[in-house]
Amino acid sequence: MDKNFLNDFPILRSQMNGHPLAYLDNSATTQKPESVVRSICGYYGGCNANPHRGVYELSVKATQVYENARRKVAEFINARPQEIIFTKNATESLNLVAYSYGLTNLHAGDEILITIAEHHSNLVPWQRVAQMTGATLNYIYLAADGNLSADDITTKLTKRTKILAVTQISNVLGLINDVKTLAAKAHEVGAVVVVDGAQSVPHIPVDVQNIDADFLAFSGHKMLSPMGIGVLYGKRRLLDEMPPFLSGGDMIEYVEEQSTTYAELPQKFEAGTQNVGGAAGLTAAIDYLRGVGFETIERIERDLTTFAIAELKRLPYVDLYGCDAANKVGIITFNVKDVHPHDVATILDAQGVAIRAGHHCAQPLMKFLGLNSTCRASFYFYNTRRDVERLIEAIQQVRSVMKIF
Ligand code: ALA
Repeated sequence: MDKNFLNDFPILRSQMNGHPLAYLDNSATTQKPESVVRSICGYYGGCNANPHRGVYELSVKATQVYENARRKVAEFINARPQEIIFTKNATESLNLVAYSYGLTNLHAGDEILITIAEHHSNLVPWQRVAQMTGATLNYIYLAADGNLSADDITTKLTKRTKILAVTQISNVLGLINDVKTLAAKAHEVGAVVVVDGAQSVPHIPVDVQNIDADFLAFSGHKMLSPMGIGVLYGKRRLLDEMPPFLSGGDMIEYVEEQSTTYAELPQKFEAGTQNVGGAAGLTAAIDYLRGVGFETIERIERDLTTFAIAELKRLPYVDLYGCDAANKVGIITFNVKDVHPHDVATILDAQGVAIRAGHHCAQPLMKFLGLNSTCRASFYFYNTRRDVERLIEAIQQVRSVMKIF
C-alpha cells in the first residue's frame, strides 16, 4: 500500500474552480512537498548569507548548504561534485554547453545532430551555434511508431558529427530514448553526447556513468524543487577545457586590468550570487524522492498511464499520439476532434483538471507530426486513478460544451 502522498502536498488538497484540483501538468512543473518548502524557509530563516565570500559563521553555513546540495546531486546521478554546475534550469544548462563547448569546438563542415523531438531548449541554442560557427544542424526523425528512426541514426551519425544532443524522454510524446546505446554509437564516431534529462531525471533512475553522457542537463522544478535551480553535469576533462559561459564575481582566480584567470571547477561556471535557497530545496527534494524510491515512482506512473490510455481509447472522438509504444512514461498527448486544445484545456480547468495545451515548446515536432497543437496530461507519483477518472469525465463533457453532437 503506497503512502498517501497528498498529506505531504497541501496544494494537491486544494480546490480549483469549485472542484478538487487534479493537477496533470507535471511535465511543465511539479508541486512541492512540505519538506521542500520547510527547507527553503529554514535556509532563509536560519542561515542566509552569501556563500564562498564570507569568513563569518553565517556565510560558512550558507556555503555548507550549497556544497551539500552539490554532493547530494552528484550522488543522485552517480557523478563527482566538481562535475555538477548549478544553473537556473535545464535551458541554461543546455545554453552553457552550446555556447561554451559548441562555439569553441565547432567549425564549418562539422555537424550537430539532434532529434526532431527536442524541446526548443535543446534545439534553438544549437541552431544559433550552427549559424555562428558554420556547422550544419541535422535531425534524426521519427519512425512510424514514434521512436527515433534507426535508419537516420545509422546514416546521420558520421565522422563529421561532433555533437549529438538528444532528449532522454520527449516532453510531448513521453517516449524514452535509449541514450546509452546512442551515446555508445556517437562515441564510436568521436562525437560528444549531450543529454536533455529534464523529463527523465525526475521519473527514472539516471546514472551518468552508465549511460556515458558527456553532459546531462535537468531542472529542479520538475522534480519537486523550487523554480530557479537547475543542473549541468559534465565530464571533468571536458568542463576543464571549456571557457566560462557567464563571467563576473566568484568565477575568477585573479583579475588584472586586461586579463583574468578563472577559478577551478565548478566555480568557473557559477558567476554571481547563486540560488542557495533553491539548492536547499533541491537537497530536500532528492531526499523526498529517495524516500519514495524510483521503483514506486515508475510503478505508479506506469499504472496511471496504462489506465489513462485504455480509458482514452474508449472515446472515439479522442486522437492519441505516441501512445502505443512500450517505452513510455506518464506523458499523454491527445486531441479532441474538432475542438482546439486551448478550448479543451479551458473546459477541463472549469472542472478543476489542469493540463497543458499548445505546442509544448516543440514546434518542429508538431510540424513533423502534422499538428499545430495538442493537449497534454502528464503524471507524477502523487497522482491517483481518481485524477485520471476526473480527466476522462471532463473530456467527456468537452464536445457537448462546444455544442458538437
Ligand atoms: N518544458 C516544460 C514543458 O514541457 C515547460 O511543459
